[in-house]
Amino acid sequence: MQAIMIKEFVKDLSELQPSNVSLPKPKGAQDVLVKVTHVAVTHVDTLYARGLHQNNKRHMKPPFTLGTEFSGIVTSAPSSRHFRPGDRVFGGDSAYAEYISLDEKLLRKVPSSWSNVQACAVGASGAVSYGSLMVMGKLKAGETALILGASGGLGVMAVQIAKAVGAKVIATVGSKEKAEVIRRIGADAVVNYKDANWEDQVKALTDDGEGVHVVYDAIGAIESSLKCLRYRGRVVIVGFVARDGDIEKIRANRILLKSASVIGYRFGEDGRRLGAQQTESVWEGFMKLVNEGSITPVIYNEGEYNGLHTIPRAMSDLLAGKTVGRSVVTITEESKIETAKTKL
Ligand SMILES: NC(=O)c1ccc[n+]([C@@H]2O[C@H](COP(=O)([O-])OP(=O)(O)OC[C@H]3O[C@@H](n4cnc5c(N)ncnc54)[C@H](OP(=O)(O)O)[C@@H]3O)[C@@H](O)[C@H]2O)c1
Repeated sequence: MQAIMIKEFVKDLSELQPSNVSLPKPKGAQDVLVKVTHVAVTHVDTLYARGLHQNNKRHMKPPFTLGTEFSGIVTSAPSSRHFRPGDRVFGGDSAYAEYISLDEKLLRKVPSSWSNVQACAVGASGAVSYGSLMVMGKLKAGETALILGASGGLGVMAVQIAKAVGAKVIATVGSKEKAEVIRRIGADAVVNYKDANWEDQVKALTDDGEGVHVVYDAIGAIESSLKCLRYRGRVVIVGFVARDGDIEKIRANRILLKSASVIGYRFGEDGRRLGAQQTESVWEGFMKLVNEGSITPVIYNEGEYNGLHTIPRAMSDLLAGKTVGRSVVTITEESKIETAKTKL
């Protein structure tokens, strides 16, 4: 089969190429073999490929198969209690491959109302954003949430989660076109982060002008977040997209002056350190919103990318700021998979 392997980190993403590798073998008794139909292109993948992510020091060292989010169809699940061949599934693991073998605990069934493309676009982003806003940020109905990086794969989930739980949602994006999309998925107000006074605009949009209760920061703008925050507000640090590796040093008195809580959140590490139950309860919270119909997957130019060889182009479009929501690459069309007859 074909896969994008990282044998050594690349300098330029255009160097990424599929190569022939063996079919994955089960590592444990509960492993399930999945024919991958779609993979997502995320900011994290662009960092993993170049060795620029904090996980590259420990968890993601070459050689490894690139990719994080995927959807597919189960082709073999001999000892699984939950999955059978033909089940449509999605999950997060080394996904840029035609097949993936992984523990059933890392898989979820695609909700019947979603296509595989939609499930792939949501991936773990819904759960990450739910954990950030609800578990760490303790966002409540009637409060105001500010979503920084709202047009990203995680951000489009955060906007909808905050709205679904009854918060007023203010979002930041970088263009009028993206603002339109973000309004359509539920933001009450959208501010362009390229405006010099965007933090003042955010404060002015809050009911009493005192600032927001919770900031969801996926871009790495903590000083700005503190400016937008009301007294005793909470900032949840989710990511650093806007920093280009230069992580912000903040003045600690800004935290004290507002009696603010600044909280980091690392979804994957929570799972590794606090156990599967912690991750499961976050997923349950998010899937409840999905089942209530509160979450719409946002896919950038559906059908634009076909085949593993289009991943470098999808990554280049992402880094150029062309995308909104998640870019999804088709690996195998669902209609071409005949699970019952598949011989491996
Ligand atoms: N904490 C966790 O457990 C966890 C898990 C997964 C990912 N992450 C992190 O979460 C972050 C977001 O991931 P993602 O997949 O959503 O990324 P993404 O799809 O690339 O989205 C990036 C967002 O950042 C905005 N942005 C880019 N440059 C900016 C700038 N200079 N100023 C302000 N906004 C800017 C973009 O806005 P425009 O497009 O509107 O310009 C876009 O909304 C990444 O840092 C990722 O590593 C964290």
